[in-house]
Amino acid sequence: MNKNAFRQLSYGVYVVSTWDKGRATGCTANSAMQITSEPASIAVSINHDNYTNQCIQDTGKFAISILGEHSSPGIIGTFGFKSGKDNDKFEETEQIVRGYMPIVADACAYIVCEVIDKMETSTHTVFLGKVLDADMLKADAPMTYAYYHNVIKGKSPKNAPTYIAE
Ligand SMILES: Cc1cc2nc3c(=O)[nH]c(=O)nc-3n(C[C@H](O)[C@H](O)[C@H](O)COP(=O)(O)O)c2cc1C
Repeated sequence: MNKNAFRQLSYGVYVVSTWDKGRATGCTANSAMQITSEPASIAVSINHDNYTNQCIQDTGKFAISILGEHSSPGIIGTFGFKSGKDNDKFEETEQIVRGYMPIVADACAYIVCEVIDKMETSTHTVFLGKVLDADMLKADAPMTYAYYHNVIKGKSPKNAPTYIAE
């Protein structure tokens, strides 16, 4: 199997967030996709070992902050390489609340979802969310996963579904 073929799939770069007993938390994710239009639904794939997974299971809700090319790249590092279990990620990242959910202020758009179904794989939970709220935040091109790798020269950790060992 040539895993380089996987790198030809296109994604965006997002922060999937939720509440941890009243405190905002979340993780960087590329694995968000729209499943249906009417009623609108979105799926995300979150590793069992990510603290965000446990928090989404507890709240039954998640939000997707869609990062733009001008969003601070530091957000991806904060949310993608640290755990919310022992870090307050939103302490270093400005937060706004929309649809009762925490959102990254420096994103170009957001989507708020309620979990209506889930599928377990050996490593990740695929959460299916019914969209409760969504809006644009600022004019910016959405960051693609290719832009993250080719322009920002970013990497992906082991818990990302797209991780490929070097
Ligand atoms: C660019 C990028 C994409 C990522 N995509 C995902 C993803 O789709 N699903 C996932 O579970 N983890 C993904 N990760 C890894 C998590 O963001 C990372 O494991 C994070 O530290 C988990 O934080 P938490 O323990 O607070 O949930 C990605 C990381 C990066 C940098």
